[in-house]
Order: sequence, then structure tokens, then C-alpha cells
Amino acid sequence: MTQPPSADGVIRARSDVERLKAYSAPLEGRRGMLRLDFNENTIGPSPKVVEALRAIPAEQLAVYPEYDGLREAVVANLAALPAGLAHDLAPVCVGVFNGVDGAIHAVLQAYGGAGDTLLTTSPTFGYYAPCAGMQGMAIEAVPHQMPGYGFPYEAVMAALARSPRVLMLCNPNNPTGTRLEADRVLSLAAAAPNTLVVVDELYEAFTGDSVLPIIDFNATPNLLVLRSLAKTAGLAGLRIGFAIGHAEVVDRVSRVTGPYDVNSLAVTAAFAALEDQAFVDTYVAEVLRAREFVVSELERARVRFHVDGGNYLLLWPCRPASAVEAELRDAGILVRSMVGKPQIDGSLRVSLGSTEQMRRFLETYRLIDGLPD
Ligand SMILES: Cc1ncc(COP(=O)(O)O)c(C=O)c1O
Repeated sequence: MTQPPSADGVIRARSDVERLKAYSAPLEGRRGMLRLDFNENTIGPSPKVVEALRAIPAEQLAVYPEYDGLREAVVANLAALPAGLAHDLAPVCVGVFNGVDGAIHAVLQAYGGAGDTLLTTSPTFGYYAPCAGMQGMAIEAVPHQMPGYGFPYEAVMAALARSPRVLMLCNPNNPTGTRLEADRVLSLAAAAPNTLVVVDELYEAFTGDSVLPIIDFNATPNLLVLRSLAKTAGLAGLRIGFAIGHAEVVDRVSRVTGPYDVNSLAVTAAFAALEDQAFVDTYVAEVLRAREFVVSELERARVRFHVDGGNYLLLWPCRPASAVEAELRDAGILVRSMVGKPQIDGSLRVSLGSTEQMRRFLETYRLIDGLPD
């Protein structure tokens, strides 16, 4: 459709894009700080990943990436986890993307058309809405159940009766930690065979609830699972994520990406990370220990907080959240203010790192927000 001429001479984009604001996150100047603001791994990747990256010959940089064997490595990694896979997973059931962000974008590009509905919960991960918006989709966001940020199961089930094109479930949910049992995810998918149900399992390693140990994609072809090496294996900077589902769905989602969207350094790092599951397990165990420590300290101090799934918690400072966020930054610690977000306004989202890192956070936070010792 022809866009009306603009007075300033700037060529207008599609009307859906004109309505969008660029998705921006405060990503600059974070090096050297204690980064508790993006739920990243706070200690870096396995030394084996670093070794593999250092061993990359210069020639590799001049050649387009190769993906041979990567899907097989993902399947082997999943099958070897304690919960394992209920059914054999063919490598074609794994799509490789430029981070889970790339997968989310591709899913909505492939499945979301103008006027279709994206059903999700609120508040949730902030990148779903712009990806739906750029497709001209309508968004129906069901609030979590209060108090406690429970998953609004009945309300989501009722909304599924209206056949939204896509249901995006963040499990556990970022930022509320809301968890949904795997069999309930399957019940939602079974109730809406014409809706693509996408489960973003970015943080499942910290609390379980993955559908992969019980799913049969032949029986439930409308379910797609997103997994990333960003938050547990520490590859956030390299950008690699996976979409796992029925081969026909993965094929369709992969059709809207470029042939080399995932770079070869990320591929090399992913192979090494997938082979060193012990590193991830040790990191996850440390984060869970740190969570226990933080929770006991916050309970002792009688401050308002909320923690459930994932490697993060919500904390309500006595003083305005943005002021506390800024003062923590001055002290070298980054957290995210949730100011203005429904249900969690006034809180800070604090990622969980190692016990030592959380001790440092609490010591500084005590001074800034007047937490009792
Ligand atoms: C719920 C959720 N999904 C996806 C992403 C993006 O993951 P990736 O780094 O693999 O693109 C994030 C990052 O914060 C997230 O919190």
C-alpha cells in the first residue's frame, strides 16, 4: 500500500513499523560491573568454550558458518539430561536461531499476520509485543493472578477458545517467576490445536517444568519450545538459541531467517558448551544456593520481595526504585527497575549470581536502601 508523502522527506516504513518504538535495553557501559540486570550468567562460560573460541583458525572467519552436527549435538545434550526426552527427537526438529530473540521474531513473522492475535500473560518478557506489533498483530495479555503472580490458567484457557494465532508462554515467566507445570502446558496446547503454543523455556534449568521430558511432537504438533545458551551456559554475547518442535513447524519458522544468521563463533562455542553440561549444572546449583541465601537474608530484614522460578527475584525498595537503581549503578551494581510495569510497579528485578556476588549486592543494598543488618 502506498504511504502518504511525508513533509520532512523521510520515507515512511510500513504502517505497523511506523507505530513501533525500537526495542531498547540499557546495554551500554556494563563491562566491569556486577551485572544483575539481564539475568545473564554472572561468571562467564565454561573454560572449554573459551579454549574452543581461542583455537578458531583465522580461515574460519573468512568462511560462511557451517551448522553440520549442531542439531544432533542439541538432541544428544537434551537426551543426556536427568529428565531426558520422552520420545526420540530427530535433528530436523531443532531450529537454530540468532538467540531466542531471533527465534521469537521468526515465529511471529512466520505465523503472525495482520489482525491475528498473540495471546500472552502480563507482565512478561518485553520482546514478544514488538515482534507481534511489527506483524500488525493484536495482543491480548492476561494478567497474572494476584496475590502471588499465579499463572492465570482458566483465563488463558478461556481466551484460547477464541483461537488466537499464537500463545506465547514464558515458563518460568520473566520477570514474575511464575511457573506452569508441564502437563498444564500440554493441556493448553491440546485445547487449541489451531493455535501455535510457544513455550519460552529460557530459565527452566533453574526450576524445571520443561515440557521436553514429556512431549511427543507428533501428538502435539502445535507446541514449540524455545531454549537458549545465553543464561545458563554464558553465551549471551554470541547469540544462539534453539526452537524445538514438530519438524514441519520448525521448517516454517526457519523459512523466514537468512541462511547464515547464526555466526560461526557462536556455533563453535555452542558445540563446546553442549559438551560441558557439568559446567552448567555446577553454575545452576550455585545460583540456587545463592537464592536460598538471599531469601533468608530478605526474610530476616522483613522487606517485600517475590521469588519463584528462574534466576531472578523482585524486590520492593523503601525508596523510589529508579533512585535505588541509579545509586546501585554508582556503586558498580546493575539491577533493573520495573517502574511502570503492571503488577510489579516500584520493584527492582535482581538477577541471582553466585553467593559471593549476592553477598556484595546485599551489603551495598543495605547501605543504599537502609535495610537492617
Ligand atoms: C524470557 C526471555 N526469552 C528470551 C530472551 C532472549 O534470549 P536470547 O539471549 O537467547 O536471545 C530473554 C532475555 O532476557 C528472556 O528473558
